[in-house]
Amino acid sequence: MFRAILILETVFWIAKATPDFYTLEEYKDLTDDLLRGYSNKIRPIWNQGQSLPISVSLWVSSVNEVSAVDQRMSTTAYLYVTWIDESLWWNATETGIETMQFNQKDLWIPDIVLKNGFTAFQPLGGDFYYLYVESSGKVQWYPYMVLESKCEIDVTYFPFDRQMSNIIFKTWSYSRLEVNLTVDENEIGFFDFVSNSVWEVTSIDAWDDVTNMETDVTFSIYLRRKPYYFIMSLVIPVIFLGILNPVVFIIPADAGEKMGYAVTIFLTFVVFLTIVSTSLPANSDSISIMSIYLVIKLLISALIIFISSLQLRLNHRKSSRKIPRFHARMVRCERRLRCIRNQVDTDDPDNYDKESKTADIEWSDVSSAVDFFAFWIINILDFTVTGILFYLLLSI
Ligand SMILES: *[C@@H]1O[C@H](CO)[C@@H](O)[C@H](O)[C@H]1NC(C)=O
Ligand SMILES: *[C@@H]1O[C@H](CO)[C@@H](O)[C@H](O)[C@H]1NC(C)=O
Repeated sequence: MFRAILILETVFWIAKATPDFYTLEEYKDLTDDLLRGYSNKIRPIWNQGQSLPISVSLWVSSVNEVSAVDQRMSTTAYLYVTWIDESLWWNATETGIETMQFNQKDLWIPDIVLKNGFTAFQPLGGDFYYLYVESSGKVQWYPYMVLESKCEIDVTYFPFDRQMSNIIFKTWSYSRLEVNLTVDENEIGFFDFVSNSVWEVTSIDAWDDVTNMETDVTFSIYLRRKPYYFIMSLVIPVIFLGILNPVVFIIPADAGEKMGYAVTIFLTFVVFLTIVSTSLPANSDSISIMSIYLVIKLLISALIIFISSLQLRLNHRKSSRKIPRFHARMVRCERRLRCIRNQVDTDDPDNYDKESKTADIEWSDVSSAVDFFAFWIINILDFTVTGILFYLLLSI
């Protein structure tokens, strides 16, 4: 930010400081002089066998949007590009003119393009841009643009994900032997930065590889999603729903509400799964832990519906039907765990015969035993799954 202001101020300061002792005629004559015989199609370096050094830095104004669905990042930024144009040189003391402005279409400019762009390939700047040229031939170009760059978004840790997005520029037709595009010492910075409401920029970086014949310069923006919205609208409701899920086993079977309740919770999970999928890319490259969690919740819900149906059948069985041994054992186990004593003391070894085992057990007791075991098993399962989810999400 500070550096950006410095650069711009330098430019304007030079422009302002230019003394007024030259006339329009003189300026026009000098322009005509410099542009006479100038070709904007030839690299402006005397020794055409040499590579023209060009340095760039990027100044980011805002990160407008990061779309996980489209794998795209939109940024507003300008490039600061400088090079020495060896055919634009004049004697500043003789003419009194220190800097001049030239229209972009009159000068040679490098064919820098956004390499990982999302929209059609287009040249930077435009015909209405004026370039600052110093008497030494140093050209400064500030193409301002809204960049739509492609970036790979890994949504595994959604909504606690961190992303790294690259903005790659290169000169499309020139190789490094003709144009030596490098990152300048300012590299990348912020200029009047406006923060995004969804993404926080954690750091920025820039690099180039001068040994590579490709003239790529890469600017990286590291982002972190601000998770509060998703915590409030997704994570907390889903956790509470998960707590409500086993409550179906507290409702007595005779109340006749069990199935309606279980199915409602199941459908609510389906709704949340739909909400999550709308903010995630529709591909199979990275699957978010959050959607796996919701699918597991859905499975648990389906299991609850299944258990409840079986249990309702058991509850409504005729009392004349004999209770099998397994069911009886389950009821006794439940009573022991809940410390319920029944009239026939089964712990007394004298009374421990086959008759007394099932004598005091009814089908509704079997149903309550199912309630008891299912409630605790589902609760433990739910806590384990939720625990694993948080461990994974917060471990990054
Ligand atoms: C620029 O012009 C001044 C005044 O005519 C002269 O003294 C000086 O040597 C010139 N500089 C160059 C680099 O030619
Ligand atoms: C490009 O510039 C870098 C750094 O200034 C330099 O190390 C490298 O040799 C240059 N490459 C060419 C091909 O001139």
